[in-house]
Amino acid sequence: SRFTACIVAAGRGERAGGSEPKQFRPLAGKPMLRWSVETFSQHRDCAEIVIACAPDQVARVEDMTQGLVCPVSVVPGGTSRTASVRAALEVADAPHVLIHDAARPGVTPALIDRLLAALDDAPGAVPVLPVADALTREDESGLVPVSRDGLMRLQTPQAFERARLTEAFTRAGEVSYPDESALARATGLPVATVPGEERNFKVTWPEDFERMASLLQPNPA
Ligand code: CTP
Ligand code: MG
Repeated sequence: SRFTACIVAAGRGERAGGSEPKQFRPLAGKPMLRWSVETFSQHRDCAEIVIACAPDQVARVEDMTQGLVCPVSVVPGGTSRTASVRAALEVADAPHVLIHDAARPGVTPALIDRLLAALDDAPGAVPVLPVADALTREDESGLVPVSRDGLMRLQTPQAFERARLTEAFTRAGEVSYPDESALARATGLPVATVPGEERNFKVTWPEDFERMASLLQPNPA
């Protein structure tokens, strides 16, 4: 059924550096935020998009998201990612919600389809990818190996029945979580997994912009 895309764009992008937050910087021809907004808006099941951004950026984000085929509202986000998601969720209206990081411009229609299909059988669904590298933890004694068994990398969009996620946020209180799957776990809401996509990685470090640009706009051979 129909969904609200809640895109969180209220972070400061400190690890990425640069003169403004990463989600507003140009990437392969448009502001990073605009890539995922366009992908969601073109999906047949997208009822509306809600974007949470820093309070002083609301007018700018409204300008940046003109001319789309589905309605967009922009709300002030919070000082944690969880608070920004909560602010967007408060105005979301459709039966399903897809919570997404503005820092992941590479989200695809196929991934959105997999998440919506998984919601037929579970109240929540999130994209995951396997871990390829060996893992370790360093302490006073040296390097302590960490098993990869059962470990996965989490992405967004994270998809939920809206009423169930809203209820989970109420139960969670004012605590912050790394993502909605963690908040769901803490409040007893079951979450299924679907395969994520490498091109949907989170732009985090300065060198990530070039790699993402090449995935968004491949050079003709
Ligand atoms: N985010 C948000 N509100 C916050 C913090 C983060 O909406 N208070 C959003 C970011 O804008 C981003 C997503 O959450 O789209 C994932 O966060 P992250 O990659 O950590 O982005 P930043 O917090 O902006 O970057 P950094 O941690 O490097 O400062
Ligand atoms: Mg952050």
